[in-house]
Amino acid sequence: MLNLQAKGFDALATSDTVAMLCTQEQVASNVFIPEQLHNVFALIDIKTFKAKPNSYYYNALKNKPAILLVGLGPQKDVTAETLRNAASTIIQACQDKGLTQIHIVVPLLTAVPDVSRCIAEGAFLSNYNFNRYKTNNDESAPLLQKAVLVCDNPQQLSPMLKEVAVVCSNTLLCRDLVNETTEHANPVTIAKLAKKIAAQHAIQCTVYTKKDITKMKMGLLLAVSRGSIYPPYCIVMRYRGAPSKKESIAIVGKGITFDTGGINLKPTGHIETMRTDMAGAATSIYAIAAVAQMKLPINVHAVIPLAENMISHTAYKPGDVFTAYNGKTVEILSTDAEGRLILADALSFTEKTIKPNAIIDLATLTGACIVSFGEIVAAYLTNDEQLSTALTKASGATGEKIWRLPLYKEYNEEMKSDIADIVNVPAQRNAGTIMGATFLKNFVEDTPWVHIDIAGTAWYSKKRGYVPKYATGFGVRLLYRFIKDLAL
Ligand code: BES
Ligand code: ZN
Ligand code: ZN
Repeated sequence: MLNLQAKGFDALATSDTVAMLCTQEQVASNVFIPEQLHNVFALIDIKTFKAKPNSYYYNALKNKPAILLVGLGPQKDVTAETLRNAASTIIQACQDKGLTQIHIVVPLLTAVPDVSRCIAEGAFLSNYNFNRYKTNNDESAPLLQKAVLVCDNPQQLSPMLKEVAVVCSNTLLCRDLVNETTEHANPVTIAKLAKKIAAQHAIQCTVYTKKDITKMKMGLLLAVSRGSIYPPYCIVMRYRGAPSKKESIAIVGKGITFDTGGINLKPTGHIETMRTDMAGAATSIYAIAAVAQMKLPINVHAVIPLAENMISHTAYKPGDVFTAYNGKTVEILSTDAEGRLILADALSFTEKTIKPNAIIDLATLTGACIVSFGEIVAAYLTNDEQLSTALTKASGATGEKIWRLPLYKEYNEEMKSDIADIVNVPAQRNAGTIMGATFLKNFVEDTPWVHIDIAGTAWYSKKRGYVPKYATGFGVRLLYRFIKDLAL
């Protein structure tokens, strides 16, 4: 993981590489060059560099700091995301040039808040690869070891840099877990991992086994897990950052470690990436870990139902009816709509036994979410305006984009079953993301609740700026920020 530091200009040595981020206007008028570097810039010609977003210029002089310029584009277009992505260009350039350390001058940009935080985040989050299955290490460029932010007030940055390192390292660990193969990321290993992480960060952790789940009558989680060699688990992690208060928030994360679709088997083209279906679980584990590591003064629970949705002679079948933890009966019309089933049991268990003040669930729930929003935006649906406002604010701060969909009661009609209380998928396959949330609504009675569908955002089919191809870690920073800003 990246070692993030801050230093003053006086600490720059002639052997350092100094990266600078500059807008088109700044480059045109040379105003971005700090006094301490005037002598270096006198020796180089940057006229050809137009500061286009994500373009860079590199010049290594003898006996002077090497200069790396990264473009930010026109000043009016510079946002927090521009800075995070520009920081990822710095990391890319360092990899191209084989550098393991970089000094980054914090640019003067009054229109964007938290400039140094955004640069630190972008650098930390783009300094990532998943190459543990490569036998030839030469194939991937080495990662950066150290990034030093250079500014006039280095001491003031240190609490922020610590927080960025904690939250972003948990985001990278979340990516690792989602990228990991099912041989190493299955209900058994994830339950063990949750215990290990809990022990490291003063989090209590209870792992409910198949026996407990049977006793507790979580009929839907049991049904989904039935075709797999792995038993189901339900993990409950508890972080008590405000021991004198009874208020708490609960995170619930979908933990399907592989989604074959079950008897409604997924076809080629849709099944290959389905180890991503535990991204909600991974996000929940690493978000609570980040909260605990930062010792935030708030009580947080993470409830994580884990199962593998397999096709086999023991698998549950279309037409079966099962009774949920809250007593409602569910007719299975598709064994591929399994996420909502395990979440249903986890949600009503959370509401009834933990009694939190708010529940936020994350799930790679519907392909329809990708149809609507692609990989850029997560859908969210909620029964509470305050939660909606708070989540939108957190999303604005972290750059993890979300968009609200409605939960009108008219949609409830579509979920009625002829033979049981509800079906798990409606007869007509319209409004898939809304129908998924409408199903879940049956398992939350009166607790403020948000459901976030991360089917598109959890897994990228290509690299985008500071977010790599495959597992993105979407939601760890969002949840952390949301929880930090909650006043319970
Ligand atoms: N895990 C999938 C949703 C998904 C699709 C996540 C693509 C990530 C990428 C979920 O369990 C699923 O299969 N949903 C079905 C629901 C349908 C049967 C109503 C879907 O989206 O097709
Ligand atoms: Zn499915
Ligand atoms: Zn699924």
